[in-house]
Amino acid sequence: MGIMSEDTTKAGPDPTLLSAALATFETLWSPRIVTRVNDYDVRVAKVRGEHVWHVHDDTDEFFLVLDGTLDIALREDGGERTVTLDRGAVFVVPRSTWHKPFSADGASLLLFEPSGTSTVGDRHDDVPGHVDATTGHALGG
Ligand code: NI
Repeated sequence: MGIMSEDTTKAGPDPTLLSAALATFETLWSPRIVTRVNDYDVRVAKVRGEHVWHVHDDTDEFFLVLDGTLDIALREDGGERTVTLDRGAVFVVPRSTWHKPFSADGASLLLFEPSGTSTVGDRHDDVPGHVDATTGHALGG
């Protein structure tokens, strides 16, 4: 018969309810890291008003709108356009694409991007005081 190698004293991670995670903070444009997948962060953020034009030189950036509506202005080869993401919409800003998220009425977002990715990218316009330049905060931090 085999020997049981199961370690019953060490529990794994618990599930995270996104609504509960979002209820732990109010700061706008200041993402919280809810979990990690390999070397990627899953972050949630509350937003309202304008972010800042910026670009991530080496990574795509994934957006899922959990609540509200998010607009993202994009500077592409053909010029500038804005995509509108309603609740439930997903969108990926390709690497090396200048973008500026904004939300007139406010939104809650889930973001998926490599750990260490700055919210204001590798290059950006002047960062306004209401925008948190961060690589994400721990939940409850
Ligand atoms: Ni970005």
